[in-house]
Amino acid sequence: MSAHENRILILDYGSQFTQLIARRVREERVYCEVHPPTLTLEEIRAWQPRGIILSGGPASVYATNGPSAEPELLDLGVPVLGICYGMQLIAKMTGADVQAGRREYGRSQISVTVPDELFAGFETGESVTVWMSHGDHVDQPPQGYEVLATSPWLPVAAFRAVDRPVYGVQFHPEVAHTPRGDEMISNFVFRISGCEPTWTAGSFIDEHLTRIREQVGDEEVICGLSGGVDSSVAAALVQRAIGDQLTCIFVDTGLLRKAEREGVERTFRSHLGMRLEVVEAQDEFLSHLAGVEDPEQKRRIIGERFIRVFERAAKELGHDARFLVQGTLYPDVIESQAVRGPSAVIKTHHNVGGLPADMQFELVEPLRELFKDEVRNVGRELGLPEEVVGRHPFPGPGLAVRVLGDVTRERLDILREADAIYLEEIRAADLYDDIWQAFAVLLPVRSVGVMGDFRTYDSVVSLRAVTSRDGMTADWFPFPYDILARISNRIINEVAGVNRVCYDISSKPPATIEWE
Ligand code: XMP
Repeated sequence: MSAHENRILILDYGSQFTQLIARRVREERVYCEVHPPTLTLEEIRAWQPRGIILSGGPASVYATNGPSAEPELLDLGVPVLGICYGMQLIAKMTGADVQAGRREYGRSQISVTVPDELFAGFETGESVTVWMSHGDHVDQPPQGYEVLATSPWLPVAAFRAVDRPVYGVQFHPEVAHTPRGDEMISNFVFRISGCEPTWTAGSFIDEHLTRIREQVGDEEVICGLSGGVDSSVAAALVQRAIGDQLTCIFVDTGLLRKAEREGVERTFRSHLGMRLEVVEAQDEFLSHLAGVEDPEQKRRIIGERFIRVFERAAKELGHDARFLVQGTLYPDVIESQAVRGPSAVIKTHHNVGGLPADMQFELVEPLRELFKDEVRNVGRELGLPEEVVGRHPFPGPGLAVRVLGDVTRERLDILREADAIYLEEIRAADLYDDIWQAFAVLLPVRSVGVMGDFRTYDSVVSLRAVTSRDGMTADWFPFPYDILARISNRIINEVAGVNRVCYDISSKPPATIEWE
């Protein structure tokens, strides 16, 4: 069975947890996609989902212009699971009342009242911990629906249609705070929707080798290789599909970490035998960044420069490339699908949306459907070394967003040295894989110190290390003190120009992972 006959459609009503629903379904090895609720019935039929999940959302179902669904959605003969707003929408579509008020946010207990497939594996009467986050709720199930679970606050915590597999749950099974939520999602996906766990790295690769060949034919393709996980896996996959039609271009922006350029050359040219061109563009990037302190302006300048450098490199190197490979991932795609209306731009990640409008390439984005952990699995399956697939994420704008304020060659050199020592010690302590991302940041202040008998007035380095599942939320990593002490000593002693080291103990939110 191919992924196309075996997939779940998620309609996004704007909840901050929608991506988590998709991740949970994919973790069951079932393919799914997130789409806006404006998808028509025709389009839904054509997509052929085995099951449909309606996400939560911030609106009230009675709000004018609140996102809705066509009532026939429930008559397609496809199982439906409405979560929170999705459940209230089902209630409204079937003529039941939705009550406003009595907001509930946080942990709650539900009690399963009727045995049903959705709660297979749960005892009737069993108390189950769940996470609630709602303003409105449903007091009475719609006609033809029965109550499957209640909570001390809610007479209807879950319901189903008696004659069809249409379900609603008021809580959020997709979040980690609902510890057994994955069992409920698994029940919906397998028992109720009849999917099979066919979504694997191997099946993804097979399908995409064909798709890539179809897209590019015998045209030349270039790939901007950054050495990070995403572009490396994208390049390896495209190379597997079309061999030497692919040329990878690695731009030395001057914003790279220590020894990064050499590492990329070793892995991709020597080890994987790819056609790799290294473009020396340090002066160009640094001169455009000179005097720029605003983080968003740095990102725009770098995004624009990348494309210009590629276009030029492609010409100068004599390749007549029509296609450009990018390692865009699914979270970027979901975030850029304007389903949630105007939301605040926190940082412009330049993979999506930030490309100049007059760009001359057609994009090949073979990872557009994948989450980060899936990308890593595909990379392993393609034979990329663990030091590439297991790497911490590195932002596109590189060290420019870690040298706070003005980006100069001298300040980049200081940061590179400090960062290398920091990562070396983390690896030596065997902590690299316990950390989502670790890096040093050069602050735009100087502080007074004393070295030997002399006063110093030098730079401050802040260390950042976080744990995270997906980069959307993060906690700072609790290093043992002796390791922090060793790192601090080494940086201050070995890196000229640094006399103070701090450790960043901010979580995300309210901070972000990067400082800019
Ligand atoms: P923040 O700092 O927003 O970062 O908490 C979340 C994740 O995204 C990475 N990041 C970027 N990646 N271009 C990128 O490709 C960017 O401009 C960018 N800014 C942040 C960050 O390293 C973390 O993994």
